[in-house]
Amino acid sequence: MALYSEKVMDHFLNPRNVGVIEDADGVGEVGNPVCGDIMKIYLKIKDNRIEDVKFETFGCGSAIASSSMATELIKGKTIDEVMEVTNKAVVEALDGLPAHKLHCSVLAEEAIRAALKDYFDKNGIPYDPEEFREHDAEEDVPPEVLEAAEAEKAAAAASCGTKFK
Ligand code: FES
Repeated sequence: MALYSEKVMDHFLNPRNVGVIEDADGVGEVGNPVCGDIMKIYLKIKDNRIEDVKFETFGCGSAIASSSMATELIKGKTIDEVMEVTNKAVVEALDGLPAHKLHCSVLAEEAIRAALKDYFDKNGIPYDPEEFREHDAEEDVPPEVLEAAEAEKAAAAASCGTKFK
């Protein structure tokens, strides 16, 4: 079985909504200190809806595919609906990611949240800070998937000599 689904490959090779919105209403930038990848999301919000969204991602293929899919998922949605979009939804829409790449989808969720938070802050809109707490990539992952990820890492480390965290 291929490591990456056709959807992941499609969104990696033809990412949707790449770019910058100069007069964005909310901008969120997040990074993963372990892998060093960075993601930035720009939101244009009108009448409580995501009118436009763009992203810039300096990162791996899964991060690019996740950002692309995440932007597609939130375009046209209300803010409340966007708050429901988790990394799990992104992974499902991509027809899955390898377990050791799940953190890439978390980056997409966090970047969207950070952009919304920026919008709320700029407009004096109150929110529950709990909604914006940091998310653990492994939080919703069943133990057997985590075990498989550990095995994958060990096998990769053994074959190329690289140490993974
Ligand atoms: Fe870090 Fe994919 S390896 S976001």
